[in-house]
Amino acid sequence: QKKMILDLDTGIDDALALAYAVADPNVDLIGIISSYGNTLIETAAQNSLNLLHLLGADDVPAFIGESHSSTTDHFDVMPISQLIHGKNGIGDVVLETSPRHVETQSGVDFLITSAHQFSDDLIFIPTGPLTNLATAIKKDPAVATLIGNTTLMGGALTVPGNVTPFTEANIHQDPEDADYVFTHQKNLTMVGLDVTLRTLLTKQETTAWRDLGTKAANKFAELMDFYIDAYANLGIDKKGAALHDPLAVAVGIDPTYVTTLPLSMRVTYDKKSGDYGRTIGDKDKLLEPTSSKAAILVDTDRFVTDFQTLMLSVL
Ligand code: BDR
Ligand code: CA
Repeated sequence: QKKMILDLDTGIDDALALAYAVADPNVDLIGIISSYGNTLIETAAQNSLNLLHLLGADDVPAFIGESHSSTTDHFDVMPISQLIHGKNGIGDVVLETSPRHVETQSGVDFLITSAHQFSDDLIFIPTGPLTNLATAIKKDPAVATLIGNTTLMGGALTVPGNVTPFTEANIHQDPEDADYVFTHQKNLTMVGLDVTLRTLLTKQETTAWRDLGTKAANKFAELMDFYIDAYANLGIDKKGAALHDPLAVAVGIDPTYVTTLPLSMRVTYDKKSGDYGRTIGDKDKLLEPTSSKAAILVDTDRFVTDFQTLMLSVL
């Protein structure tokens, strides 16, 4: 059984990614690192603890990651994030407070020790900015080659971004560290908006969750419906909301959900360039072999069906 670490800016679709990883019998979820993005880091960490408690997964430890990018001294939540994820990151749904606290070891150090302990057997899934991974590699460069599989949600190669025409939110929060990760981390798969926007969940699925009648099912339906309503109100999609982060977890476990393009990638971080935060193929490395891949197609029906089956099993 592979070991998995999630790095979440918890976030509604991050909450779904957490539930998916708890539910999937093919992986052993060994820890959750918090990031900033959809919310401030403290809120993300508390959300992760409370969600684990709700799902009866109080054995999974939670760690605090970096609270802002390495090129800034603080982080402010974007107004659009609050519209999509609510003021508390989970659709303003109130969860019972976990009896646990975050671990004293930092998220970055947990990632470094886990990379050494599990190496090829470790799957790392960042679904927020890439600051924690970049910080870990800068502190211990072996991390870049040790982690067996890094599958991230972020970027937009072939479709417009969701912050600017070029930029996806997770990459937008910290383009410098994202570029550092893209140019250092081995065995990296980017699951960007190219594919995640094709995986929508609708109220038909959340109604089936509610029918289970459990506390977890009702809370998850409540936060998912907030996200679906936000997508409709903001004109993103009338029918459903994107399963961005759970798709990255699924691909980390089973790469056959997507078709990938082998590609060395860069992120533009020159603020004057006009395409700050763009994920793009590295023109200087097009002829060189690479272990980096970008997902370009997804088996939507198979993924959404499997996602729903796992959710019904865990809620
Ligand atoms: C990504 O940004 C966050 O809002 C979501 O949780 C997802 O990880 C989508 O651009
Ligand atoms: Ca996220």
